[in-house]
Amino acid sequence: MVPGLAPTSALIDPLLVRMMPQNYAAWTGFDALCHGFESYLCKMSSHYNSAMELKVVKMVSDNLREFTYNRMNHKACENMCWAESMAGVSIGFGGGVGLVHGLGHGLSALYDVPHGLASASVTLPLERYNQPSCPQKFAEMAEAMGVDTKGMTKMQASDKWFDEMERLLSDLNIETGNLKERFGLERNKIEYIIKMQYEKDFCVEGNPRNFVFQDCVNLLEDML
Ligand SMILES: [Fe+2]
Repeated sequence: MVPGLAPTSALIDPLLVRMMPQNYAAWTGFDALCHGFESYLCKMSSHYNSAMELKVVKMVSDNLREFTYNRMNHKACENMCWAESMAGVSIGFGGGVGLVHGLGHGLSALYDVPHGLASASVTLPLERYNQPSCPQKFAEMAEAMGVDTKGMTKMQASDKWFDEMERLLSDLNIETGNLKERFGLERNKIEYIIKMQYEKDFCVEGNPRNFVFQDCVNLLEDML
């Protein structure tokens, strides 16, 4: 990776996104969702970005399936573009991303895994790890995804977010884990990814759970 490499502008056009292959539509659309939920969970999040992120979670949840499989639906394309743009702006308001982007970056850099696919493949186990630190936020995101959480405990409602995410990933045909067979991740590269990439990544600061090196090793090993 080139240090400091970052875009300064983005071209977000509902007509252009119609041209993407189906798998890229699913992966990049999931990335917009990932910006939404990771920024919402982020330690640095503020009321500014939280309000937008919940809307992003709702909009992607409502539109990503249709966007992936029927991109002639202009409304789905437009809504996904809005969600992507809002997620980017709200990161600019101070919400960062976390462990999912952090470890996903390592997979993309070393094994050429498309960014959205990398994040999507590690979301469920990594957010399960984060869940005890902020169950209320997972519960709020489950509501944003359309779950009626009335009468549930905080943890029950929080678990519903994982159910919704599992269903979405399955509908998008995205597998979780199995990183060795799918992308070639080697056990002896795991410490390198964490030391050389994740530890230095801005994602470390924002993740809701504090950084513990061995936990990150274990999480990646469990996804081999
Ligand atoms: Fe991303």
